[in-house]
Amino acid sequence: MAEPAKTRRPAVDKATATRDNLRKSLLSWYDVHGRDLPWRVRGASADPYRVWLSEVMLQQTTVAAVIPYFARLLELWPNVEALAAAPREAVLEAWAGLGYYSRARNLHAAAQKLASDGFPRTEAGWRALPGVGPYTAAAIAAIAFDEPANVVDGNVERVMARLHAVEEALPVAKPRLSALAAALATPHRPGDWAQALMDLGATICTPKLPKCGLCPWAGACAGLATGAPETYPRRAEKAARPRRYGAAFRIERAGALWLVRRPDKGLLGGMAGLPSTEWRDAPWPSAEVLAHAPARADWAHVGAVRHVFTHFSLTLDVYAADAEPTGEGWWADEAALPTVFKKAARLAV
Ligand code: ADE
Repeated sequence: MAEPAKTRRPAVDKATATRDNLRKSLLSWYDVHGRDLPWRVRGASADPYRVWLSEVMLQQTTVAAVIPYFARLLELWPNVEALAAAPREAVLEAWAGLGYYSRARNLHAAAQKLASDGFPRTEAGWRALPGVGPYTAAAIAAIAFDEPANVVDGNVERVMARLHAVEEALPVAKPRLSALAAALATPHRPGDWAQALMDLGATICTPKLPKCGLCPWAGACAGLATGAPETYPRRAEKAARPRRYGAAFRIERAGALWLVRRPDKGLLGGMAGLPSTEWRDAPWPSAEVLAHAPARADWAHVGAVRHVFTHFSLTLDVYAADAEPTGEGWWADEAALPTVFKKAARLAV
């Protein structure tokens, strides 16, 4: 009997097969182990308002810190029209304690545009809004509209650096890591893919002590094969953070504090604060500091608080007095204060 003709299989190259396996294994892992987060919807399209709000809040901020703020903002402003109509001060107040306050100012400005023009669908459309950078635009397009965007944040860079044991150091390696992520991204479930990678980076492929025993990619991970996956991504040495100095003035009356609105430009722009000096590179001599006080009084030096911002550390001397304040301001509790001023308000006499 003649042998049946052999059917010729299409040649699937090894790289394609590996990529397909990585895609399948991560999405299957996500379907079971993905985190349930308040802004996340499975099996239906997510509300772009909630996705935009959460992605802006998650810039430089952990999921755990964002969750209560996200709930509060949604309760106050359940849709973009409500947020656009809110006074800017109220939005800044609801943001107090979350940090990076330019996000709140931009959020409010973007809400005006979104409320009048509607939500864009594409990455480019989102990118045109204040406070939406390339990462956030890609994340919103993928998560809210299932657009095949390459969503790359620090978590994804770490995952790619380990998976491929990339020896080049950050930040130079960024374009390479982004290209590796793009080569792997799936056009089928783009929103789930983006969130699956985020979750892998946040829960398994963690900066310290990665849980490689639980990782769906362990078998393919070149970083793990080196025996030291946690040493990726390689990093160029960071310059030390400079220190800056300032002073804040605390006037308390019947449990209320005298607060001022900070100038719009600069760090904590537009936020409520204690009256303060400028922050500068050298410590302030106390005689010079008191010339900036909001009232003539017998100011007592209460102590100093330290606070770390992204680009510098601050030492803030705190002075207190029972005084009649001058200039513009208002009496309130500390709720609307950003963290550095909360620390100053709470410093015991
Ligand atoms: N970090 C930034 N965006 C996120 C998201 N959508 N889910 C979880 N972590 C995130």
